[in-house]
Amino acid sequence: MSTHNDCQDSGASDATPQQPARRRFLQSAAAAATVGAAPHLRAQTQTPAAPPAQLNQAVPPRRVTLTVNGRAYTLQLEPRVTLLDALREYADLMGTKKGCDRGQCGACTVLVEGRRINSCLTLAVMHEGENITTVEGLAANGALSPMQRAFIEHDAFQCGYCTPGQLCSATALLNEFRNGTASTVTADVRSRPAQLSDEEIRERMSGNICRCGAYANIVAAVRAVHDGGGSTGAPQPGTA
Ligand code: FES
Ligand code: FES
Repeated sequence: MSTHNDCQDSGASDATPQQPARRRFLQSAAAAATVGAAPHLRAQTQTPAAPPAQLNQAVPPRRVTLTVNGRAYTLQLEPRVTLLDALREYADLMGTKKGCDRGQCGACTVLVEGRRINSCLTLAVMHEGENITTVEGLAANGALSPMQRAFIEHDAFQCGYCTPGQLCSATALLNEFRNGTASTVTADVRSRPAQLSDEEIRERMSGNICRCGAYANIVAAVRAVHDGGGSTGAPQPGTA
């Protein structure tokens, strides 16, 4: 008997500390759930945020006059239109090619005031009043320019997609060299480069990628025009 009673007593004495512990656990769990729900409740009671400002509103087109290959083109352009898109999509001058559209391939090279630029990296509205030369403007009076002829004679292209950019770039390259502009492989940048080596040509043409790999023949064509000493047929910087 004493054993049974002992067991009951023993059970009763064990229950006393366990029940408050269970209660404490349930209370703290309920408190945690309340805290977790609080932000949600706060969000429900907050006043709705104001709608975001309209950042992407289109800017209306404006009249832009570009002088390309000696001819004035008056176009209606949004300010965000690149020179490349203005030439191809608005002026219908499709000779200038779009490759990467981010300044990495040189397919879009044109001359602005005789200087070569990537037309995909500049806005058309920035070039009002400047003389722009595209590949269509290199030939004069129906005759190919010396650089165009050399590209044909030296087989300096295959698919031809990069060729308009290569031609504009090579044309400006010779003018830059004649004006004494140094490149990163020029031994002494304080003096005029002594000669237009193949290394100089490769470096100065390195912004123009040819996926067909016609590089050796492109260098040969540029060299032939340089060694021939004739005019490149393109406007000089500042004289366009
Ligand atoms: S399209 Fe302009 S650099 Fe490639
Ligand atoms: S000729 Fe094809 S990419 Fe240059």
